[in-house]
Amino acid sequence: MSETRPARIPSLVKKYLMAGSGLVLVLFVLGHMAGNLQIFSGSPATINRYARFLHSIPELLWLVRSFLFSCVIVHIWMAVLLTLENRAARPAQYAQAANIQTSFAARTMIWSGVIILAFILFHLAQFTLEIVNPMYAWLEYPLDGHQVHDVYAMVILGFADPAVAGFYILAVWLLCTHLSHGFSSMFQSLGVRNEKWRHRLDQAASAVGLVLFAGFAAVPASVQFSKYSDTQILPVQSILQQVDSQKWDPASPRPIGINYYDTPLAPAEDDSTPRVLQIAVPAHP
Ligand code: HEM
Repeated sequence: MSETRPARIPSLVKKYLMAGSGLVLVLFVLGHMAGNLQIFSGSPATINRYARFLHSIPELLWLVRSFLFSCVIVHIWMAVLLTLENRAARPAQYAQAANIQTSFAARTMIWSGVIILAFILFHLAQFTLEIVNPMYAWLEYPLDGHQVHDVYAMVILGFADPAVAGFYILAVWLLCTHLSHGFSSMFQSLGVRNEKWRHRLDQAASAVGLVLFAGFAAVPASVQFSKYSDTQILPVQSILQQVDSQKWDPASPRPIGINYYDTPLAPAEDDSTPRVLQIAVPAHP
């Protein structure tokens, strides 16, 4: 009887799959960062319109989500296989492994990956599934004649908690060191990282990491700063006060609205929302 051995994926294919899936995820993260920065546009309408647009074709949204999810699975799977392979090869190949100088990011890639995964699960529970605070799902905003989800208020309320804001800043810092290292080793895996380009590519990788860190950390950090004095861009105090005064109760959930004209927020030129907003009336006064 012939013994069937599981087919092994060649190392080079693993590296290509790891690099390719990583590249897709970096592109998603760059796009997501650009989308988030709309919070600074000066009108809740901008990011709320964008969120409504993303959800406008559910079939396409699920197709993109499934593709991204498969990239995450492939990326983690290849990371585990390559780590095991490297460990198995190390004693024979690197008798002096202890002397090899590697950066902090390189040595902790698998652990930063695990923390980033935990962060993404928390993030999805908070802003996509809205199970961390069920009230977020009931935040409404009048846009172009419809009541839409008030993603602007949800993000501000989410980051008003200093522990949540701090956790996001830490997680995006880890994400950026992970991405920078991954980005520079991707070129090595793809065989385009020769000595001439090594320095330039490492600089480009650090620059991408820095831009991402600044872009992502800006949102929780600005919400924390604006908590102490409302700004024309992020009226955090007014939003917190209005939400508190509406005494939302999970036992009798009801839509909840913010009157942005009671805040120092300057309406954007394309803001088509009515000047007097309808605040939801409590179901049980
Ligand atoms: C700190 C800044 C961030 C903010 C303000 C933010 C904001 C949001 C919001 C509001 C949503 C829900 C969008 C909606 O359903 O309309 C969302 C979804 C998501 N975010 Fe973030 N995010 C941040 C950082 C990140 C990071 C660093 C990652 C990845 C590593 C990430 C990955 C995702 C994913 C995968 C989704 C689900 C998209 C979907 O619904 O299919 N986010 N984010």
